[in-house]
Order: sequence, then structure tokens, then C-alpha cells
Amino acid sequence: MKNKKLYIVMVGLPARGKSTIARKLKENLEKDNVRTRIFNNGDLRRRLSGEETWRPEFYDPKNKEGVALREKIAMININGAKKYLGGNGQVAILDATNVSQARREKIIALLDDHPQLFIECINDDEDILEASILRKVSLSEFNRLDKHTAISVFKQRIRYYQQIYSHLKNERNFVKLHSLHNQILEEEIRDNIPFYSRIRDFIVTDTVKNLFLIRHGETFFNLEDRIGGDSGLTEKGNAQAKALAQHFKTRKIPYIFTSKMKRTIQTANPIKRLQKDCAIIALKEFDEIDSGVCECMSYEEIRREMPEVYSRRKQDKYNYIYPDGEGYVSMKKRIDMGIKKAIYLASNSQNIMIVGHQAVNRMILSHFLYRRTEDVPYIYIPQDKYYHIIATQDKKLFQLRRYKD
Ligand code: F6P
Repeated sequence: MKNKKLYIVMVGLPARGKSTIARKLKENLEKDNVRTRIFNNGDLRRRLSGEETWRPEFYDPKNKEGVALREKIAMININGAKKYLGGNGQVAILDATNVSQARREKIIALLDDHPQLFIECINDDEDILEASILRKVSLSEFNRLDKHTAISVFKQRIRYYQQIYSHLKNERNFVKLHSLHNQILEEEIRDNIPFYSRIRDFIVTDTVKNLFLIRHGETFFNLEDRIGGDSGLTEKGNAQAKALAQHFKTRKIPYIFTSKMKRTIQTANPIKRLQKDCAIIALKEFDEIDSGVCECMSYEEIRREMPEVYSRRKQDKYNYIYPDGEGYVSMKKRIDMGIKKAIYLASNSQNIMIVGHQAVNRMILSHFLYRRTEDVPYIYIPQDKYYHIIATQDKKLFQLRRYKD
């Protein structure tokens, strides 16, 4: 492994997750003692230009001055990467948009002393894009603008990049990655790429350092064994939420993902209050199973009034779909999407928290931990404990932990 060296070239429009992937790749390679450095054009631009380059016209491909400055910055990093691998560095990651053919040809020609792996990040999910742009405009270069203007300025920047964007095609070694789904859309590897199996496995793996998976506190419907609906927390439920807040107050929780339902948001509120800087993000993907015609009924009422529904669900709970509603099987897609969104949005933090529901949390657990589908609808999801999940390439941990109630 010692003499193996590699250039990784990130490719993609702004706000597509390139830097997040670059950072995680570095972290992961370094765990294997692979000396890795990131050469980020945006950081360098902000340092060199004193942030004056926030203006969208700077990115207009027809703006000669802008193009020249960006090329200069790219060259500094290209040379820096070459020097790094010429010394004792092993992996140099060029973190920039690199969307134009011309830029990539330059890289290919200048960095020909070691193999190059291009990683193109693609993601057109509107919600994620909006959230990523919101994160971008919190950078200090946008301080002078109000949020609304900053967002439109950033979108204009993206449109300029779109004008010169050409997808990877003729590069010798490349991966096109859907950066939200961690899914390889296209792969072409012609050379012997050092560390490739480690890198490939890493980019397709959902990684969470600390995921705290909580079920909402007790609700009035829980007391009556009623399903669905949008009932609020009981006194005991509120006390549970407060106890959770105390339990987590020494951990830094930047995001709490909930469903759109009252009971999860009411559980999250006290936790947020005891945090310094914390946002609640309510995702519809984490809404509880829609029990259709059975919404708001108790299990006893369903058994009595809809015996057919009751017995068919009992026979095959995972695959059964409530009339006009959902089943575990049909929730899978949206739950997976919710998990991807949460991981993506919280990618800069060590801790992610999800406050979900019984069926939702079963599905989230089974996303990380293999369970036979027929067992998934019976996973134990208590209200006085939570799951602490670690799922990285090297470590898997599932711990059911009690908080003081
Ligand atoms: O009872 C609470 C609840 O969250 C209901 O809203 C939901 O229908 C149910 O749990 C899901 O659990 P099961 O699939 O075991 O009925």
C-alpha cells in the first residue's frame, strides 16, 4: 500500500454534497493510515478574494476576470495536489465543481503522474437542494445579504455553472454517484485504482456516527390503544419529553428530525429548548403508518367491527396494506427517503436525533439492522427508552438505553 497514490477529483454543481463526501473520504482513509489531503477551491477563493466573489456575475462563464481568477485558484490547488503526492501524501482530493470539460482536461493532463478517480455527485431532490442551499448561505461570504437575496444569488451561481456542465463520460476512471441515495449510477474503472474497494464500499454505505432514535412520549390515543390520528402528549408524555431533554442536554444535537405530527414535535420541543443551537426539522417521510379506514380506532374496535381487516393483518402484518392506507411494505420507500434526508442534512454533525413513531421506528431500525421482514412489525419500540445506533463502515452498534422517566 505504501507507494500507492491517487488523485480523487470531485465533480458536480454547487450544493450536491461534494465537500461532505470529500471530508468523509478523508476521515475514512485516514483511519487506514492513508495520508489524505483535501484541496478545496471554494475555501481558497474566499481566502484570496476577501469574499468579494459572492456576486453571481463572478461565475458567469462570459466574465473574463472571474474565469481567470477561478482558473488561477484551480491551478494553485492542482499544483498543491501534485506537490503533496510528490512528497509523502497518498491521496489528494480536488474538491471543486470541475464541471467543465476544459477544466477536467487540464487536470487529466497536469496530474498524469498517478491514477485519477473522478467522482461526480448528482442530486436533484428539490427539498434537499433547498436545505443544502440554506446551509450554504450561512457561510460568512453571504453575511451582507438577507437570507432571501442570498438564496437567489446562490441559485444564480448554480445556473452559471449549469451553462458549462458536462457529465463524466470519457474519463478513464469514474463513478457517478447519486449523493442522496448513495447509489452508483454509472461506474467506469479502467486502471488499477489504489484503495478503490474501500472507497467504493464507503460511498455506498449509509453512515451514522450517533443516531438517537426516540419514540414520541405517551399520547391520549396511546392510553386508549387507538391508532393513527394526531393526538397530543399526556402529562406523562410531557414528563417523558422533559426527561429526554435532561438526558441529552450535554450532547450537542444540531438537528432533531420529527414527523409532521403533533406528538413527535411536542416531544422534540423540550429537547430543543435545552440545546444551544438546535433546529427541529419535521419531515412527512417520518409520519406514522396511515391506517386508512382504521384511523383513530382502537385495536379492539377493529377486531369487533372489521374482523376481516384484523385477521388479514394478523396473518401477514408486514405486507398487509390498510384499505385507503398503508402497510409496512409500502412505507419502506418513504422511510428510506427520510433517513437519507436526515443523514444528508445532518452530515456535518456527530449526533443525529429522530423522534418518530412505533411503525416508523421499526422501519428505521430495520434499515440499519437486518431483520426478516415478517419480524419487523413486532420490533420492540418502547416509550421509556431509546435506541442509540452507530453504523459506520467499521462499526455497528445498537443499544437500547433508558433515560430517566
Ligand atoms: O399505537 C400507536 C401506533 O403508533 C399507531 O398510530 C400505529 O398504527 C401503530 O402504532 C403501529 O403499530 P402496529 O403496526 O403494531 O399496529
